[in-house]
Amino acid sequence: MAGVVRMSEVLSALSYALDIVEGQPEGHALRSCMIGMRLGEEIGLDPAQRSALFYALLLKDLGCSSNAAKVSYLFGADDRVVKNDLKTTDWTSVLQGARYVLRNVTPEGSARERLGRFVRVAGGSKRTSRELIQIRCDRGSAIAVQLGLPDETASAIRHLDELWDGRGHPEGLRGEKIPLLARILCIAQTLEVFWARDGVEGAAAIARKPRGSWFDPQLVGAFESVRQDGAFWTRVGGDRIRREVVALEPDEMVMDADGRTLDRICESFSQVIDAKSPWTARHSQGVSDVAVGIAGVMGLREGDRRRLRRAGLLHDIGKLGVSNTILDKPGRLTGEELVAMRLHPAYTLRILERASCFHDIADLAASHHERLDGKGYFRGLTGDQMDTPARILVVADIYEALAAKRPYREDLTPEDVMKILDDQAGEGVCPRALEGLKAFLAASGFVPYELPDAARIARAA
Ligand SMILES: [Fe+2]
Ligand SMILES: [Fe+2]
Repeated sequence: MAGVVRMSEVLSALSYALDIVEGQPEGHALRSCMIGMRLGEEIGLDPAQRSALFYALLLKDLGCSSNAAKVSYLFGADDRVVKNDLKTTDWTSVLQGARYVLRNVTPEGSARERLGRFVRVAGGSKRTSRELIQIRCDRGSAIAVQLGLPDETASAIRHLDELWDGRGHPEGLRGEKIPLLARILCIAQTLEVFWARDGVEGAAAIARKPRGSWFDPQLVGAFESVRQDGAFWTRVGGDRIRREVVALEPDEMVMDADGRTLDRICESFSQVIDAKSPWTARHSQGVSDVAVGIAGVMGLREGDRRRLRRAGLLHDIGKLGVSNTILDKPGRLTGEELVAMRLHPAYTLRILERASCFHDIADLAASHHERLDGKGYFRGLTGDQMDTPARILVVADIYEALAAKRPYREDLTPEDVMKILDDQAGEGVCPRALEGLKAFLAASGFVPYELPDAARIARAA
């Protein structure tokens, strides 16, 4: 895709991926953006501040995948459910915090298992929640910097969970020591969650409830006037939300994305995707590198190589919507789990289709688990429906996944990996693309990335 697109168009589309990893309904980030921008307007932010705020609101959950595995491992539960529940819990209250842990630990476990885990999680809850938030905030703000967004944006994301009374994380900043934009992020996301659950009055109740403890009183005051604006809330809940949000970027500060910026966005989001599971620490980058390598050997044009580079980086973006209890399971998946896992390319399509600049890679990226014999997923395409780039991406994905360590099998030698691929040639994978892989590996000396050993991965999770 040549030409320049607006950053807001790209990032507002990708914000849906951040919603699903947080277990939030689609559009959470967009609605938070509308609410936060309105508060910013009410308190008279200048255009530069509003621009920084705009991107911080859209990308506030950039770091959220980096603690998903830990959350799932700690609670023995679906990270998306645990995270979703946290959004409506007053975790500064010991009683509510304990109830929250009890509700969420090992939902499938016996009473004894649940009690044991409750004691472990609740016992270290303060330290643990600070660590989990710290991971998320550090990662989120680092990716914002990598995206070339202003320092104020990165700082707002870093301090998203600080509370006015100093009981927030990661640094326990108090009052005006918390960056103003972070204070707006904090109240905007909370208002959105309670608005989605209980309507405007639900949002108003949470704004008032912790009375001067969670939120900047100036922002609570600003919300009181927004609250009366019925037309605004209709637009927040409307189906034109993305257009509404894109229009909120200050005209004088509009950020464009040229081809290089789009590549950088894909690379940054590939890190968000790969951070979801310690087992896929660099999977997306690896698939992208291998796919481009095969395309080079096979003489594909620059346009197709660029599509493969971006599709490789984003092909598993739908995995952000899959629980880590499934992604990191050290064993065979049950039928139900398999169904959930096999939906991830469908989520990939759904997310990428939303950005016009990714229309040329959405189908390609979503086809990475298809097979020539029609037995792949999620659409069961057959060979005649798969063009050369799609066939290359399939081979690159299988190769990278086999060459890396995984929780459900022994490590494979390079010879084992090639034998598995050779056995699938013709029926499953394209023989020409496979030859291209072999030629690329021989010519480049490409080495799949090394993951730490299994025990270290388990500890990291
Ligand atoms: Fe996949
Ligand atoms: Fe993959």
